[in-house]
Amino acid sequence: MTTIEPAARIDRDRVAALTERQRAIHRERTAESGRTYERAAAVMPGGVPSAFQTGDPWPIYLDRGEGARVWDVDGNEYVDFHNGFGVMCVGHANPMIAAAVKAQVDRGTHFAAPTEGSITVANELRRRWGLPHWRFTNSGTEATLDAIHLARAAGDRDVIVKIEGTYHGHHDAVMVSVKPPADLMGDRSRPASVPYGLGYPVALTDLTRVVPFNDADALERLLDELEGQVAGVIMEPAMMNVNIVPPVPGYLERVRDLTAVRGITLIFDEVKTGAAVAAGGATELYGVRPDVVCLAKAICGGLPGGAIGMSDPLAELVADGRVRQQGTFNGNPLVMAAAEATLIQVLTDEAYTRLHSANRTLMAGCERVIAEYGLPAHTVGMGSKGCVVFSAEPVREYRDYQTKVHHDLSDLAWLYHMNHGIFMTPGRDEEWTLSVLHTDEDLARYVEVFEAFARDVTAPSP
Ligand SMILES: Cc1ncc(COP(=O)(O)O)c(C=O)c1O
Repeated sequence: MTTIEPAARIDRDRVAALTERQRAIHRERTAESGRTYERAAAVMPGGVPSAFQTGDPWPIYLDRGEGARVWDVDGNEYVDFHNGFGVMCVGHANPMIAAAVKAQVDRGTHFAAPTEGSITVANELRRRWGLPHWRFTNSGTEATLDAIHLARAAGDRDVIVKIEGTYHGHHDAVMVSVKPPADLMGDRSRPASVPYGLGYPVALTDLTRVVPFNDADALERLLDELEGQVAGVIMEPAMMNVNIVPPVPGYLERVRDLTAVRGITLIFDEVKTGAAVAAGGATELYGVRPDVVCLAKAICGGLPGGAIGMSDPLAELVADGRVRQQGTFNGNPLVMAAAEATLIQVLTDEAYTRLHSANRTLMAGCERVIAEYGLPAHTVGMGSKGCVVFSAEPVREYRDYQTKVHHDLSDLAWLYHMNHGIFMTPGRDEEWTLSVLHTDEDLARYVEVFEAFARDVTAPSP
């Protein structure tokens, strides 16, 4: 008997027909979002405050959120697995965060002078990440921007090395080879530095060099070639913008060694992994300590804030003003109140235990469906985050993601989820994020919808 390769069960015409049908349902279900889009697009390019919020055929405009649920302007109720791009591990309108923020509103919302809250939060971040010094920012972009300045100042060198296919915010040094198209990205042994959009001087793009993830030899070769020129290596310890790509065993340790012996600053961008995957983020999970950690998203419980942790010598550059780490709203008391409640009251050790267990349950449910229907897919997850990767083989780097993933299945699964009350990120290359307010029923609902998708996709042709 011949074994059928799982991918052979997928009939492309069937996927296309199902996609067309689900698209029509999606348009109908979200007609009010369509009308809102017309008004919004008249005043905001693309009808959105940020490019990440665009959608096809239009963004889904939300009305409100509570617990693990959100409601859109058409009145559709969803269980939220988007969770504000992984920010809302605390759940929507969490009473503890709300109480902390409301109390601070009554005591003043902004001073641009330091308050006790910033000391408390900095101490908690030190406890979680083990890095001795912290400063605050207003976003992940600002955190990685400051990290690059620190690396360049510390090394008195200019070149930055990043990983092909990662996003670190939208400033010049890192808007390089974020999603490079195959025809521009060059040979794997020497990837090109491809600007991610217009507006970046070539001279700056050229200062950022890229290497594939999970390949310490490639990094070593580049660092040897650029001897004495590289200031910093910036990376997510686990890639989080091409679904989730975990580091292979030993990779992060070698990156740490390769950078340390050359006096290169190692920056872990934990904006996404941060407080979402463990109390001390991926740094704790993998046990490798960088020189700088960048945080944002989940640490502030839904208010806009970020932080940057650093070693003693780097902190000296900041303390004496040689590196200008600054901003009117840094350490804003409302943001600090939300961060304190998030990190100390809500995301406790017990909360992480529950989040990890819920994530395992959800992944196991999806794995059961994958096996039962023979889908060319597997799950990957850590902490509160996980995803179904539509590839029968593991994905180890961006180029794998480009070539091995069935992107049409990702698109169709997205439509099934959205049309059946599961709110997902607009980018299909993202992952789910659970909150402490998701229930077992919410997880079961996700699996139920995923199973409906699997059943329809693999049904025998009539
Ligand atoms: C890994 C990573 N770093 C940095 C950023 C930028 O963060 P922000 O959108 O808060 O500027 C993001 C945003 O998605 C991210 O995923």
